[in-house]
Amino acid sequence: MTDTQKSATLTLNGENYELPIFSPTAGPDVLDIRKLYAKAGVFTYDPGFTSTASCDSTITYIDGDKGELLHRGYPIDQLASKSHYLEVCYLLLYGELPTAAQLEDFETRVTRHTMVHEQMHNFFRGFRRDAHPMATLVGVVGAMSAFYHDSLDVTDPWQREVAAVRLIAKLPTIAAMAYKYSIGQPFVYPRNDLDYAANFLHMCFSVPAEEYHVNPILSRAMDRILTLHADHEQNASTSTVRLASSSGANPFACIAAGIACLWGPAHGGANQACLEMLKEIGTVDRIPEYIARAKDKNDPFRLMGFGHRVYKNTDPRAKVLKQSADEVLELLGVEDNPLLQVAKELEQTALNDPYFIEKKLFPNVDFYSGIILEAMGFPTSMFTPIFALSRTVGWISQWKEMIADPQNKIGRPRQLYLGETMRDYIDIEQR
Ligand code: CMC
Repeated sequence: MTDTQKSATLTLNGENYELPIFSPTAGPDVLDIRKLYAKAGVFTYDPGFTSTASCDSTITYIDGDKGELLHRGYPIDQLASKSHYLEVCYLLLYGELPTAAQLEDFETRVTRHTMVHEQMHNFFRGFRRDAHPMATLVGVVGAMSAFYHDSLDVTDPWQREVAAVRLIAKLPTIAAMAYKYSIGQPFVYPRNDLDYAANFLHMCFSVPAEEYHVNPILSRAMDRILTLHADHEQNASTSTVRLASSSGANPFACIAAGIACLWGPAHGGANQACLEMLKEIGTVDRIPEYIARAKDKNDPFRLMGFGHRVYKNTDPRAKVLKQSADEVLELLGVEDNPLLQVAKELEQTALNDPYFIEKKLFPNVDFYSGIILEAMGFPTSMFTPIFALSRTVGWISQWKEMIADPQNKIGRPRQLYLGETMRDYIDIEQR
């Protein structure tokens, strides 16, 4: 953060107040209003944080107008094509691309933590089989604080590091266990000779009765999905993790809070909702009906997988996934998949419709990820857990950055109170 010596003047009731301005390395200038209430006695009002920076950060930058997403400065399309998920995890966590030795050391550390405490198997069995895997995930990740007592002290940098590696390593195992539990199959232990994405597919799709070979094209597509979802600056779930951790809560509790927030259909739950919408539309001839509904102010229906708070041009992640969807469906011999046809036609219709053009609504990352995941054999209920496991590194990187910041203080928004002012209690007989 650079103090530019610039300031803005706020005039209120005849008094002038100077508000310092900070210039970021990229993006718009930021007005510092931290002393506003103390000096001028007023709050600011911004319920959806549409104009408010909640923190400073050096991890991820989005230029919504250009459709650009950078992790530590590196564009997402370069990372998706040239790098792989664990290398991106290293980049997000430590700020630089690793050397070969650093990467090997990191991969070994993650790989050594992939198994979960055996007692956790019993914990899973307390859930109903028909529980949504996100419900199981929230519960089990929260419960990690009951199993890993030696990485709960957030004031100890070493414990923070161990918690970070544990979460990145165990989330695929826990997500795969939630899936296996929901379909009544035995849990599959991780295999450390497989890479991160291949191991996840192995834990989801192999059964003890027969050999399972992970198709390298599918594991590459899985790795790309994980990479594209790894971080996305101060979105709702990341801000939830930061707010939860601002009280000093342990990392597992904070990540569980992030998972709970991600579940909503306006956020990570959109990938499940999008595929369900494509199935409901079913055939291309029904698209106009759904476009009309999305535009109707009296109908709550929205085109799932469309629109974004920050991207107002294109979502760079969606571009990569669209190509990946074509590759995966071709490999699996399902290029003429009706869902893909509906998706492509819907995309074209919406992109040429004045409503969507005017409101700058484009396909987002969730539009194509569901098609790929379904083609791989995942049920829709697993889409959001897969988003959660990929985003865990982003949450953890932001959490580590926040805890290490000496300026870190508990988050405590103010409010615009519109309720009753003080009034006297009335006894029940007199009401
Ligand atoms: N379909 C139809 N109209 C829409 C849509 C949509 N998907 N998204 C926004 N609009 C309209 C909205 O009705 C509003 O119109 P008006 O100005 O006339 O009231 C205008 O566009 C602006 O919408 P907003 O709700 O004020 O925008 P927002 O920045 O608060 O919401 C969003 C962003 C992503 C929640 C929203 O676009 C949406 O609900 N999209 C569908 C759900 C979705 O795909 N979510 C995944 C987001 S990307 C992955 C992630 O973050 O997890």
